[in-house]
Amino acid sequence: PVNLRGRSFLKLLDFTSEEIRYFIDLSKNFKNLKRTNTPHKYLEGKNIVLLFEKTSTRTRCSFEAAGNDLGMGVTYLDPGSSQMGKKESIEDTARVLGRMYDGIEYRGFSQELVTKLSDYAGVPVWNGLTDQFHPTQMLADLLTIEEHFGYLKTINFTFMGDARNNMGNSLMVACAKMGLNFTACAPKDLWPAEDLVAVCREIAAENQCTITLTEDVEEGTKGADVVYTDIWVSMGEPDEVWETRIKLLSPYQVNEKVMANAGDQAIFMHCLPSFHDRSTAIGEDIYQKFGLSELEVTDEVFEAKYSKVFDEAENRMHTIKAVMYATLC
Ligand code: CP
Ligand code: NVA
Repeated sequence: PVNLRGRSFLKLLDFTSEEIRYFIDLSKNFKNLKRTNTPHKYLEGKNIVLLFEKTSTRTRCSFEAAGNDLGMGVTYLDPGSSQMGKKESIEDTARVLGRMYDGIEYRGFSQELVTKLSDYAGVPVWNGLTDQFHPTQMLADLLTIEEHFGYLKTINFTFMGDARNNMGNSLMVACAKMGLNFTACAPKDLWPAEDLVAVCREIAAENQCTITLTEDVEEGTKGADVVYTDIWVSMGEPDEVWETRIKLLSPYQVNEKVMANAGDQAIFMHCLPSFHDRSTAIGEDIYQKFGLSELEVTDEVFEAKYSKVFDEAENRMHTIKAVMYATLC
């Protein structure tokens, strides 16, 4: 039997396929409880703190809503409002928060930092996104795929775009662990780091699936069950990066042609937020500056029936609830 009590959730590489399966099944239970309006204050009396050094909608709200549903007290510290990293070290912050809270969520820049928090806190630490990994997003994505297709193993999964970022890295690991065939369809400069690819290829071999890296859009998306993309410039990257990214990634935009090449069975996924919507402040700037009409995904694809982006967003909450329950109970 799987027992995850007291464990931190820093990256999927730390968990076995069986443990990831347990998180997914637990999430389904919690989703069912929520849908049927069944109270589940299983963690009443506990308190958690959410430390954000980058902005967030889904992750923050998932932790807050899930924490409330589980009966916990929730403290939110927004970017810049704690002493950490300015007047106080990571180690000291971790030891202080660990004395007051039963669990700590952290979103920020380095994976080393969230690991250090976990080393010193003495309570579970949950990674709400770093530059390297976004593990809570992975559980939501796996759940969404399984809900749609009914299974995970043998699914052909294609990630288009910046495959070197937190999403590309994490999705490659998630697919390798759960038996999905992963393809990164991106310019060579934006392929995941070689050492991580090597690690994932070993894991994939154990789970009878494959890791493919290609620059060829037609080949990379042919027959894909899932076509996934992410924003072309991630949080924390300087604005100057946009120019080179647009040049590199324009051929990798997810549009109707790509989806048609994938086939009728294909669904579209995106972790969000997305710049498909020109009405956002930053989106509008980028569109105007570069004279573009579409970025990583077209409106047509984003709004299509086969687009599962809002199921995926909802699943963030159910899966984060499962992570907190499994590690605190
Ligand atoms: N997908 C995701 O992590 O969204 P937020 O940045 O809004 O939390
Ligand atoms: N790669 C994106 C993911 C957002 C959820 C970023 O880090 O900004």
